[in-house]
Amino acid sequence: MGACGAAAAVLAACGSEGPPGDANLIAGKQMFVQKCGSCHVLNRAGTTGRQGPSLDAAFSRSLADGFGRSAIRGVVHSQILNPANLDPDSPAYMPADLVTGKGAQDVAAYVASVVGRGGEDTGLLASAVKPAGSGKPVAAKAGVLALPADPNGQLAYISEKATAEAGELELTSENESSVPHNIALEGGGVEEIGEVVQGGGVSRITVAVDAGEYQFFCTVQGHREGGMEGTLTVK
Ligand code: HEC
Repeated sequence: MGACGAAAAVLAACGSEGPPGDANLIAGKQMFVQKCGSCHVLNRAGTTGRQGPSLDAAFSRSLADGFGRSAIRGVVHSQILNPANLDPDSPAYMPADLVTGKGAQDVAAYVASVVGRGGEDTGLLASAVKPAGSGKPVAAKAGVLALPADPNGQLAYISEKATAEAGELELTSENESSVPHNIALEGGGVEEIGEVVQGGGVSRITVAVDAGEYQFFCTVQGHREGGMEGTLTVK
């Protein structure tokens, strides 16, 4: 598969097989969101990552040029197993084997089936991944405000709204996902950044807050821009 690079120019040489009948698109979507979405925009999956190219943008040209979705599936599969940088002199930034075996096939099949499409997934695919950031507002308890990161690796905290009383406040953000995140707070002269954690770690900061509005966010490159932020209202 090494000759089967990621650039549209080599699409014709890749993936002439038909769609695999046993691909599990629901599992493919869930794994895409967990393992890929923090670096790539894919409209149908609702992912907003910025470190890699938008997959909708990257493949819309190939689709417009008449390449079939099975060829795109082959390119995505090959990129997962052997990530290639479009610049041959630079090492690929994308880690290899984020998903393997059947998982890699399911992810490639899902991406190929939805890439470049507007609208939203329907049927069982629509409910395969819970929308990120849609949790109820969180209130601080006994001076501690818990704002876990989305456990599925989406660029969001479980809630985008929080409240606390003025005074000393500890913010904690547990991150069960494999995507690195932290918690940071700014506003009203406060600027504090917590440690970046993953795989069950907890990022923490302690600040003194007065009545007013503050923004909490993740400082990992591209994550705030991808929507990983929220508002803390102090009363
Ligand atoms: C840590 C960030 C990161 C993650 C996670 C990641 N990618 Fe990438 N991806 C990149 C970057 C950056 C590129 C551009 C090439 C390079 O520098 O490696 C890329 C390139 C690609 C391309 C080629 C796009 C083109 O323009 O031809 C595809 C397809 C792709 N990634 C799919 C995936 C899939 C599927 C996953 C999950 C299994 C994934 N990526 C996970 C960063 C990432």
